[in-house]
Amino acid sequence: MIERTVQKNGLELSQLGLGCMRLSMNMTGTPVDKKESIATIHKALDSGINLLNTGDFYGDGDNEELIADALKDYDRDKVFISLKYGTFGNLMKGGNMVDVGPKNVKKYITASLKRLNVDYIDLYQPARIDIGIPLEETIGAISDLVDAGYVRHIGLSEVDADILKRAHVIHPISLVEMLYSITDETIEGELLPTARELGISVSAFGVLGLGKLFKAKDDSLVKMIYKLSAEKNISVSQFAHAWMLAKGNDIIPLVGARNVAQLEDSIQCVSVGLSDDDFSRIEEA
Ligand SMILES: NC(=O)c1ccc[n+]([C@@H]2O[C@H](COP(=O)([O-])OP(=O)(O)OC[C@H]3O[C@@H](n4cnc5c(N)ncnc54)[C@H](OP(=O)(O)O)[C@@H]3O)[C@@H](O)[C@H]2O)c1
Repeated sequence: MIERTVQKNGLELSQLGLGCMRLSMNMTGTPVDKKESIATIHKALDSGINLLNTGDFYGDGDNEELIADALKDYDRDKVFISLKYGTFGNLMKGGNMVDVGPKNVKKYITASLKRLNVDYIDLYQPARIDIGIPLEETIGAISDLVDAGYVRHIGLSEVDADILKRAHVIHPISLVEMLYSITDETIEGELLPTARELGISVSAFGVLGLGKLFKAKDDSLVKMIYKLSAEKNISVSQFAHAWMLAKGNDIIPLVGARNVAQLEDSIQCVSVGLSDDDFSRIEEA
């Protein structure tokens, strides 16, 4: 069973979150089976995961409708919905357009609340910060949504330490969503120490290298991950997620499953113990 931990800012979150992006078509181009996607969300909730990570642009709103369908027989108040808004196109491939300022945010949240069939969003996050708009205006507009009761907490996604600090002064930031994995520990330089100083937890995406961990098999680090996983008789996915869990309970890895089988496999990471020897062999590689 996935445990819950209370974060420094009082949020009660499961050790792992479910990344819902790949449960809808269009972000990745791979067709999906809706029944399987719903079963995956149910499996996550039944296993103790309470954090569902989505975006209004995942499947152009399909992902939110999928979550609404999945939550029909569940207690919505026990689920923590983390929602990014205001971008178009593929964020990870660049060339996307961002519209996160005050002009359209009310329109976006109204549409999201409707698609999700909920009265409030637990965590509302601009998908990226538009540096062409004063930060006070972007965060201020979401803060108004908090005052109006539509949003409980404000989060950020893929920001640097400076933006995190400045935003936190405008309105407390509850969670920051960052690319963070065994193959990409960039945030350990500045962002993570800053988040820790401010008491902000990190939800980590791309734990399997955005799915690429299983492809670059000639890389020495990837080779070592495969070797250690085989020695421990666990899957590479379990190893990669266990690695993130070992970073501290303020790091919440988002499990990017496409189906129930992948989720069932990955969540077994919670019972994987990593030794000092594992750490030094990975660091060396
Ligand atoms: N804030 C942001 O900018 C941002 C960006 C990207 C994602 N996200 C969020 O983070 C979540 C996770 O990201 P992600 O899905 O791109 O990253 P990921 O976890 O690195 O990759 C997930 C992919 O790895 C493969 N996989 C998953 N479990 C597996 C298993 N047990 N065994 C073998 N292969 C497995 C699947 O690909 P195949 O089925 O193709 O093998 C799956 O689609 C997303 O759902 C989304 O909610 C946020």
